[in-house]
Amino acid sequence: MKELVVNLNTGLHGDLAVPGDKSISHRSVILSSISEGTSHIHHFLASDDCISTINAFREMGVNIDLDGDELTVEGVGLHGLKAPQTKLDMGNSGTTTRLLSGLLAAQKFTTNLIGDDSLSKRPMKRVSEPLSMMGASIETTDGHLPMTINPGHIKAVKYELPMASAQVKSAIILAALSADEDSVIIEPQVTRDHTETMLNQFGNNVIERAGNEITVHHQPKLTAQDFNVPGDISSAAFFLVAATLVPKSHIVLKNVGINPTRTGILDVLIQMGANIKLLNQTNGSEPTADIEVTYTPELKPIDVTEESIPLMIDELPLVALLASRADGHSTITGAEELRFKETDRIKTVVEELRKIGIHIEELPDGFSIDGSNDWQVVDSSLDSHGDHRIGMTLAVAALLLDVDVQLKGEDAISISYPQFFDHLQHLSD
Ligand code: S3P
Repeated sequence: MKELVVNLNTGLHGDLAVPGDKSISHRSVILSSISEGTSHIHHFLASDDCISTINAFREMGVNIDLDGDELTVEGVGLHGLKAPQTKLDMGNSGTTTRLLSGLLAAQKFTTNLIGDDSLSKRPMKRVSEPLSMMGASIETTDGHLPMTINPGHIKAVKYELPMASAQVKSAIILAALSADEDSVIIEPQVTRDHTETMLNQFGNNVIERAGNEITVHHQPKLTAQDFNVPGDISSAAFFLVAATLVPKSHIVLKNVGINPTRTGILDVLIQMGANIKLLNQTNGSEPTADIEVTYTPELKPIDVTEESIPLMIDELPLVALLASRADGHSTITGAEELRFKETDRIKTVVEELRKIGIHIEELPDGFSIDGSNDWQVVDSSLDSHGDHRIGMTLAVAALLLDVDVQLKGEDAISISYPQFFDHLQHLSD
């Protein structure tokens, strides 16, 4: 249980470089492991989830050195992984599990995947079904982990994703690399495209995109790379929202990834009238910017609908919090995918925000929220439910309360942002 006390007399202020992007960090380990040569990755996110990915590849014979946020990976090539001697422990990481399922489906050895309680409740049929269509042999435990992946001969596929999921898309892409011909994947809505972007960096023209249709060229030659992981916009989002809501705040978040498949939170903040400026933009394959945020006393309500959900999927608990402070009624709909995250985030957000007096209702696919600046705390004992993003959202909400609150399960925050409380302290000193 952590006492959430931050002295905010002068608001949040100063500069901060947020840690490396989680999605990109996972993919950097995966793609450098299956490429030829030694890759050097800078500003890697050494959080619990990404360590699960590193450990899995170490178990499969890849030499990986992690020193602070510098990662060195001696790639073994597309067909060079070795049978692990133990079960692969995915920890809490859905990204590790789903992306690795695709890669492991094409190996000549059997792997057993296990995970923690939360991960073992999350749906895996969404990957085992399409991979089985491609010739994989996967046994799940009633659609969940533990999962056994047997050696398979992967055939090319044309697959239309039934849900907008970058993890499922990436699993199929990674399997398709080892197929006998080129594969085609169709997304219902565009989701984060880091796998595609990074694959084209490691190999020539591996992925081609035309609208929502992605072609994966089979058996590419992947070569080691040297690159920087941009700051994680999903981590920056906690401070973007905090500085918007906490009086007198003025901060600059440095070198944040602004890939357009991830910037839904910026669109929401701007639509609600927040004072946000992008500075020093770069235009590489993963564009970045410094983001300047100033306290905004009045926010407009917002209606977030299905099309934009994938662009801010992990930030929706924060969007709900922003809407709770807006001047009027907001809705978030088309977000049923939130029910399949580390917790059922529709349920946990509603349960926890109601404790601090926020008027929020659960919808089957999202939230209905009446904004107010006058929250009457009914229960000051908050709970992350073991979900890192719920824990951090509640820590931001606590900045707006004039009563002391406690957070249970704060250790979950190290899943994606081990330095979160230090960084909050840094911005409030
Ligand atoms: C991720 C994709 C998203 C996101 C998760 C990371 C990724 O999950 O919520 O935090 O790195 O591909 P889904 O693909 O299940 O939407």
